Amino acid sequence: GPALALDVADAENIAELRHQAEGCTRCDLYRHATQIVFGEGPGTVEIVLVGEQPGDQEDLTGRPFVGPAGRLLDRCLDEAGLDRQRCYVTNAVKHFKFTPRGKRRLHSKPNAGEIRRCAWWLGAELNILQPKLVVALGASALYALLGPKVKLTPERGHILHPANRPPVLVTIHPSYLLRIRDEADQRRQRRDFVSDLHKAVEFR
Ligand code: URA
Repeated sequence: GPALALDVADAENIAELRHQAEGCTRCDLYRHATQIVFGEGPGTVEIVLVGEQPGDQEDLTGRPFVGPAGRLLDRCLDEAGLDRQRCYVTNAVKHFKFTPRGKRRLHSKPNAGEIRRCAWWLGAELNILQPKLVVALGASALYALLGPKVKLTPERGHILHPANRPPVLVTIHPSYLLRIRDEADQRRQRRDFVSDLHKAVEFR
């Protein structure tokens, strides 16, 4: 009945919401993940950063963006003049999805259904936080925030203004930078990423 939806909708702060999300079975990813990786940051923020989903180290520690992509994100935020400690950092999908390969667990992309189910939590986080700006890091975050019609490439670096919701700054995911082999190309893409992030400073 509706009691469950009400139970969940009444979270007044992120700690309560996280507690509710710990029991989430909205999709199947909870079955193999170690734990939920909920968003983290101060209770009052101007900027929310949204990634794709936790990776191996995030799954093990329970904290978002602490692995290689997170360290790169930290450096780029720093260069852009954004203080991570003053942002709320979260993911479109809150459980690690992977395929075992020997002793390693290889990240596997969340599908549209998983993103849609988990967007319920992202929406609740944004409702509580009411940020001035949301930064979509990559296509999965963009899909969670704005649906299937908005594509990353044409909107990259733009700030979009959905009705009745906070504006969304569109950029790439830092792990994209880690996959670029050509050094000059990587430098260029990284510089563009930092300049996208800097738009959040100017907007704020
Ligand atoms: N990549 C993400 O999208 N989120 C994390 O938390 C870590 C890596």
